[in-house]
Amino acid sequence: MALPANFLDELRARTPIAAVIGKAVKLTRSGRDNKGCCPFHGEKTPSFYVYEDHFHCFGCGEHGDVISFLMKSSGAGFMEVVEGLAREAGLEVPKASPQAAQAEQRRAGILEVLEAAGKKFQELLFAPQGLAALEYLRGRGLGDETIRRFGLGWSGEGRGMLAGALRGQGIKPEQLIEAGLMKQSERGPVDMFFSRIMFPIRDARGSMLSFGGRVMGDGQPKYVNGPETEVFAKRRALYGLNFARDAVRKGATLIVVEGYMDVIALAQAGFGGAVAPLGTALTEEHLAQAWRLSPAPVICFDADNAGRRAALKTVDMALGALAADRSLKFLRLPEKDDPDSLIRREGARAFGARLEQAQPISAALFDMLAEGVVRSTPEARASFRNRLIETAGRIPDRSLASEYRRMLFKRLDDEWRGKGKAPARMPVFTRDAAPPDPAVAEMRRARLMLATLIAHPWLIPDVEEAFARVQLPAEEAALRAALSRFVAQAGALDTDSLLNHLNGLGLSPAAALVCSQAAQDHRPDAEASRAEIAEVWWGWYILMDFSLQMLRAQRDEAQRFCQANQEDRAGWDRLTRYNLLLRQAMAGEAEPEPAPN
Ligand code: UTP
Ligand code: MN
Repeated sequence: MALPANFLDELRARTPIAAVIGKAVKLTRSGRDNKGCCPFHGEKTPSFYVYEDHFHCFGCGEHGDVISFLMKSSGAGFMEVVEGLAREAGLEVPKASPQAAQAEQRRAGILEVLEAAGKKFQELLFAPQGLAALEYLRGRGLGDETIRRFGLGWSGEGRGMLAGALRGQGIKPEQLIEAGLMKQSERGPVDMFFSRIMFPIRDARGSMLSFGGRVMGDGQPKYVNGPETEVFAKRRALYGLNFARDAVRKGATLIVVEGYMDVIALAQAGFGGAVAPLGTALTEEHLAQAWRLSPAPVICFDADNAGRRAALKTVDMALGALAADRSLKFLRLPEKDDPDSLIRREGARAFGARLEQAQPISAALFDMLAEGVVRSTPEARASFRNRLIETAGRIPDRSLASEYRRMLFKRLDDEWRGKGKAPARMPVFTRDAAPPDPAVAEMRRARLMLATLIAHPWLIPDVEEAFARVQLPAEEAALRAALSRFVAQAGALDTDSLLNHLNGLGLSPAAALVCSQAAQDHRPDAEASRAEIAEVWWGWYILMDFSLQMLRAQRDEAQRFCQANQEDRAGWDRLTRYNLLLRQAMAGEAEPEPAPN
């Protein structure tokens, strides 16, 4: 009894093939793939490769997917292997039922119908009646080889042409409806596509799923995509994935673009790793598939408002899944361009150069979030800052989240300084407090941060990495170190255990002092949620003056150097200069200049 193909696809997708095979074969990393000595024939030098969804031995020619590997290596039967893998993947094996068997048969039937239609469309494009369409495609710069490779076709004029042409192969209109090629109307089944250039859509393995059809010229709608069917789900399908998969394996960059024509134009220009969603926004399922091929696909949407919105939406969605090996890059195109128009205008080489410059999401994020956001008043800046905190907070990997937060804050900080709109240091934390001396203000903020962590030890793990970058006087630094040690050892992160811990280290008096001083600057809101408390903490953090601290660190370093090398004139000059810069910076007189080397 056959299992539904989509269940097996899901099972394969959820099974880490290298980890499974790695239990039986010692594998070493080789580029993006793994290799080892083939378990199916005796060999001393590795010629057995494990790819993201299959294995292949270049020695004996053995190959297959993770299921066939386990069957061959253990002698177990198909269902036994599938059930084992499903258990590990947390999937339920669908019960064999007459309905399931029927569904599977229907699927196979649909694929056959689609292939037959695709052939017919292709034939028509190269027949006299397709000549105008063929000329249109050539006019857009596509060579015949590209046109054939992508299986482009011509739909004919409709009026039952397709049903008529396929009748001889025993294909009925009901089947064309199931395949999404015709639709039911009051007059009976009518063609879904007529007078359109046809783009076959295939899945990663090359099975045909549906079609997109473009009008020649400017008619509306420009594209019609096939409807959802038993084999075609737009939230999953990526146009060009079958070609891109092979190209990416051979080293091409995976590029996500908006349109059919972009995919094809890029492929023709030698960028074979392009894919596009089909008239929908990019979904999590699309991203998951992209990440199976590449740790950092390049998102390259059109340079219009819709494209920018789509890019932001993609970021939004990606954040929750971001990890060291699941990232994105962004390639911004010149105004009004899409990849297709750009390649035609500038050529492949120029596009390649742009592609090299694609920005990692970490660098692109700030600009994307900041675009069109007012940041000229303190309130607007505060709300934007909260947006940054919130954005970084959505990255599940904690140390990555804290890295992003640091990066975003640094950009915000640079921006304030650079534009000179806001004072370099934002001195106020309570409405009525007079702006204190910046160095004093910083000390007070540091105490507030410490006091908050003592009252809310659960926050420590989230912030400790960032907090470690702040320069503190000895006493406060000792407290901070004690907090980190507490987190590493403690079972429960509550204030009582923390106070015990501090007591044991003789740090109770220091902690009490910090807390009472902090209480003079800020009355904590007893009703505040954890998120709000964290937000307030990060608010203080971003106000800590990193350039000032950097300057201090450099001054201290210069001082140490001078003490060790009393005779070194240049050393003393450097120290004098640092002291001057520091005085200026602390007095808020001038922007600290770049430090001398
Ligand atoms: P574009 O209008 O950017 O398409 O829409 P394109 O591929 O660049 O086409 P050309 O260059 O004008 O020929 C991007 C994608 O949005 C979907 C299609 O998937 C298209 O490729 N779309 C667009 C539709 O589904 N329907 C439409 O009417 C327009
Ligand atoms: Mn276009």
